[in-house]
Amino acid sequence: MEIKEIEVDGVGYVQAVDVKTLGGKCSRAFDINLGERGACSGFFVREKDMTLRAYKNSCPHTGAPLNWTPDQFLTKEGLYIQCSIHGAMFKTQNGECFAGPCGGKFLKALSFVEQSGMAYVALLDIEKNPP
Ligand code: FES
Repeated sequence: MEIKEIEVDGVGYVQAVDVKTLGGKCSRAFDINLGERGACSGFFVREKDMTLRAYKNSCPHTGAPLNWTPDQFLTKEGLYIQCSIHGAMFKTQNGECFAGPCGGKFLKALSFVEQSGMAYVALLDIEKNPP
């Protein structure tokens, strides 16, 4: 399947995942693989006020994936990101770890745009991560 790429203000973006139906306090994973050009596993979080955020799916503690189940990155109340391995807690607003073994470290935020309910991640953030 061809992966859609778009350009916004001179910056290239790659189609990640449909976020049209992503409600507040929910998360959704995506995987982009452009072969030799790079790859990125990440997730989107829709905050309580419907602000959308995107982070790389890699815990700053060990580099492990954070999620509990495929699309579940958040605590039960949906207010914080929590790593499923050792329970580190992160703020959704900026990815800062405020509790757990990687306190003070940050998730890697990803640049993205949303167009007609589809989220696109910046090519630059993907190309920095060769497969
Ligand atoms: S791997 Fe995430 S808290 Fe240890």
